[in-house]
Amino acid sequence: MANIVAYAIAVIAVLAAAVLYRLETFEAAAYPEHELTRVGAPALVAAKRNDRLLRGSEKIGEGKLVGPEDIAYDPKTGVIYTGGEDGWISRVSVTESVVEKWVNTGGRPLGIVHGVHGEVIVADAYKGLLNISRNGEMEVLSDEAEGLKFKLTDAVDIGPDGTLYFTDASYKYSVHHAFFDLMEGTPHGRLLSYHPSTKQTTLLLKDLYFANGVAVSADQTFLIVCETPMARCKKYFIQGPRAGSVEMFVENLPGLPDNIRYDGHGLYWIALATDSSFLKMVQPYPWIRKLIGMLDKYVGRPSMEKNGGTIAVDLEGKAIAHYYDEELSYVTSCNKIAHHLYCGSLISPYITRLDLTRYPATSSS
Ligand SMILES: *[C@@H]1O[C@H](CO)[C@@H](O)[C@H](O)[C@H]1NC(C)=O
Repeated sequence: MANIVAYAIAVIAVLAAAVLYRLETFEAAAYPEHELTRVGAPALVAAKRNDRLLRGSEKIGEGKLVGPEDIAYDPKTGVIYTGGEDGWISRVSVTESVVEKWVNTGGRPLGIVHGVHGEVIVADAYKGLLNISRNGEMEVLSDEAEGLKFKLTDAVDIGPDGTLYFTDASYKYSVHHAFFDLMEGTPHGRLLSYHPSTKQTTLLLKDLYFANGVAVSADQTFLIVCETPMARCKKYFIQGPRAGSVEMFVENLPGLPDNIRYDGHGLYWIALATDSSFLKMVQPYPWIRKLIGMLDKYVGRPSMEKNGGTIAVDLEGKAIAHYYDEELSYVTSCNKIAHHLYCGSLISPYITRLDLTRYPATSSS
């Protein structure tokens, strides 16, 4: 009798799950075949590694920062500008680690860069591309392109002529639902530019998979734009005979890329939010991604993010050094300032700083 009851309960549970699965509005898409061959390739291995990024690292502004996502350093004043979950743009003096709350965007400031007239430009996940003047006045520069509103303005960099290059990671999901974008597997991301003289927003690339970090190349002839779930960054030429064309810059990164920054000395630093093992495993299976999406929506999911950090690549995209730590997740930006590495995070209450002369990446023999 007990067996029959258990059996009946199991059958009902399976049927109920099947009905829920069919009724569920969140749908995951299959990736095109050529995208999956890349997903299956082995991850890049950097010549030098430090797999204990947290060892010897310091916490800057602890308790005064809430998820400092991006880092914009002003060498003239020695101050880092960073945006938090609480909407605040904070100024952090790197020498004394003093944190000053400066302007609240009322949204979620992510990417941040210094303008050419002393202003600060912010990619705010909810508000769009913002200009914050020296005296703290805020103005929305752009929040849509070709009739389609941004839903997750994510990263920004600036060209020598003051042109702003930025990304909308997704026109469908907000920053708080970004995980669903990764599970859905549809390219909702766009690369854009904003010209201050004409106030024009131009769509440069669409159909990107979660368009995240963007950097103007060292020689200023192309942009590098990172697609988080695809563990890669592409080049988009802005000058010369190839202007408007796209090619791969770096692929099969050992993690999911977020912001990318050029250090002025031959290296791009790509923040890796987590390693790519989990996503790689589920990417070929839309039904599993849908189930994980449902799990996340209704009951929550276990944390699968680990081995966050950064990879430094040279001008050709060759992997030079990889800093990471099993304990780290949601690393969103890393900048090399003098001989220190500064890393921001979507969730931590501080900026992480590591002395690279004392804790370098080394070649493993
Ligand atoms: C930002 O605002 C300031 C003050 O109005 C202005 O001088 C500056 O040109 C603006 N920057 C951009 C990129 O629009």
